[in-house]
Amino acid sequence: MTLLLAQISDLHLDGTERATRRAVRVMDRLRGLPLDALLVTGDIADHGKEDEYAEAADILAAPFPVLTCPGNHDSRSAYRKVLLGEEPHDGPVNRVHHLPGAAVLMCDTTIPGRDEGLLDDETAAWIEATLAALPADTRALLAFHQPPVAVHHPLPDRIMLQRPERLAGLLGAHPEVAAVLTGHAHTAAASVFAGRLLVVAPAVTWTLRLPWEGDGVADLDQPPGVAYHVLGDDGRLTTHFRVVP
Ligand SMILES: [Fe+2]
Ligand SMILES: [Fe+2]
Repeated sequence: MTLLLAQISDLHLDGTERATRRAVRVMDRLRGLPLDALLVTGDIADHGKEDEYAEAADILAAPFPVLTCPGNHDSRSAYRKVLLGEEPHDGPVNRVHHLPGAAVLMCDTTIPGRDEGLLDDETAAWIEATLAALPADTRALLAFHQPPVAVHHPLPDRIMLQRPERLAGLLGAHPEVAAVLTGHAHTAAASVFAGRLLVVAPAVTWTLRLPWEGDGVADLDQPPGVAYHVLGDDGRLTTHFRVVP
């Protein structure tokens, strides 16, 4: 079965009208589409506050499953309590979502209080156990916040996923993982990591200005972006990028 997924990232909801308007605009576009799931790869709240997650829960409500993972701007405890409606605690937030013939692993690569990411022992063990429990021939997607590769801009490259060799080793043992999907860099980008497709979703809030595009890190004039992922029967992931003017 071919699956249609959308991915958005880095909403940075902070109670401002600008952040709200952009996120609402994106969700209004997505809500009418025949998506099998929407992935939201972190930095959902800008300050990790409970009222920011209350707004996120309202804005992200949709007729399809909405799968989230935290980013460095999120706070695990408030995220759990308000966005997931669970008992708050500070352990990593790892969730798997099963689709026909496929599984999406939403992984927590954040380090509380830090901007760079890390695949810690608990999350690495959870990924291993979750992949091992999948039925044969299930395709898997790994989604988390910080990209494991440089995007060739000094700001995100300083705060990318640390010790990426650990993730590479894990992927080496799991050919069923079709692709790795991240956010954090605020730029729609594609690369390869450990022989797998790596997609960085565009941000909803602002777009990274690349070193050859002029001065200033944040381009506030670019519209929010969306990545559409088509997961085919052959296990191949194809991504289309769109903006939402
Ligand atoms: Fe962000
Ligand atoms: Fe981030």
